Amino acid sequence: MPTDLALGIHDLSFSTTSLALSHDELSRHNGTDLAKYHRGIGQRAMSVPTADEDIVTMAAAAAAPIVRRHGADRIRTLVLATETSVDQSKAAGIYVHKLLGLHPHVRVVEVKQACYGATAGLQFATALVHRDPDQQVLVIASDVSRYDLDSPGEATQGAAATALLVSADPALVELDRPSGLFTTDVMDFWRPNYRSTALVNGKESVAAYLEAVEGAWRDYSAQGGLPLEEFRAFCYHQPYTRMAFKAHRQLLETCGVPADEAAVERALAATTAYNETVGNSYTASLYLALAALLESEHDLTGQALGLFSYGSGSVAEFFAGRVRPGYQEHLRRDAHREAVDRRRAIDYGTYRELHERTLPTDGGRHDLPHQTQGPFRLAGVRDHQRVYEAA
Ligand code: CAA
Repeated sequence: MPTDLALGIHDLSFSTTSLALSHDELSRHNGTDLAKYHRGIGQRAMSVPTADEDIVTMAAAAAAPIVRRHGADRIRTLVLATETSVDQSKAAGIYVHKLLGLHPHVRVVEVKQACYGATAGLQFATALVHRDPDQQVLVIASDVSRYDLDSPGEATQGAAATALLVSADPALVELDRPSGLFTTDVMDFWRPNYRSTALVNGKESVAAYLEAVEGAWRDYSAQGGLPLEEFRAFCYHQPYTRMAFKAHRQLLETCGVPADEAAVERALAATTAYNETVGNSYTASLYLALAALLESEHDLTGQALGLFSYGSGSVAEFFAGRVRPGYQEHLRRDAHREAVDRRRAIDYGTYRELHERTLPTDGGRHDLPHQTQGPFRLAGVRDHQRVYEAA
């Protein structure tokens, strides 16, 4: 088995929904000072799904450009990570497999651990590729973040999917071997099976995230990871973008380095461009931050990036990636900006109506209105079965 094989992210593509609610509009409804949203939590808008968009349509839309560019012959595993699953038994990735027209010789599985799931998928994928470097693994993170209307969490909703093609000799980011891990049983954020919105202890969730930064970093160092000063940039899970800044200050404090505010801003500013307007996309969020960083004006060739993945409940991982020479030729800057910019702004009333919608559960035939601008749609539910189609 080769030990010095470069393994990592060969391609990265994301998609989001067709609609967006701005925080200006939300603050007009609830009277919150807009500066709290723009500066306090660092959010400007949030993606909102149409009636015919969900984690499956976003996942397929994110992955389709990857399949178009590389073909699917070498993909023998598809991992879909989500905490907003559409079925208790069937893996959502099977619908995606069909929408993408993949060959049948693929193992498809769904993984869940709150916002950490995609990182687990990524690590499992590198192990599979290590075993057979001719194979590629498609790891897709897809989530719709939903809290109760008029709750403090409401301003931190959003939706997106990120697709990562994991391969040997990757074009974008090679993943380093040591990982720092941190798991602890905490009820900071959770969603019982009977609820469509998450429950959260807001302040406790922030504290749990920060404790996990420290715990994962300490383990990363104990595993022989790189020293802090070797890292050129950091990407954090961003439930709202200011959380990343809190996290970085925590990391510096853990390392005994004074947190110079201007330096913290500089270190993270390039990672928030997508998340501040897409909102929380749960397990996809860290990889939207990575996309924003790679697509920024900085030349990161050969540089080490620190990635911190946090999933409430909680499991966290700190790991490092090294940016590959020539990575800029493989980015999808224009497509990503278009996905974000083409969303239609909606008013509060439209958002509220969509938020309160649920799919019928009577087993009848229910067709959904064609609203998405994306390439795939949920056409309806029939006999308790979801029906997807190319839009
Ligand atoms: N101008 C500027 N800033 C203002 C302001 C104003 N007028 N008013 C308030 N602020 C600042 C506050 O000082 C505060 O800053 P600090 O965090 O630096 O102290 C910030 O805006 C938020 O204000 P509050 O704490 O008063 O806000 P809140 O009570 O509405 O709660 C929240 C904020 C806890 C994030 C809430 O939105 C929430 O519960 N969100 C969901 C949970 C979440 O995202 N948790 C993050 C960690 S868990 C995780 O990462 C997993 C996941 O994806 C969910």
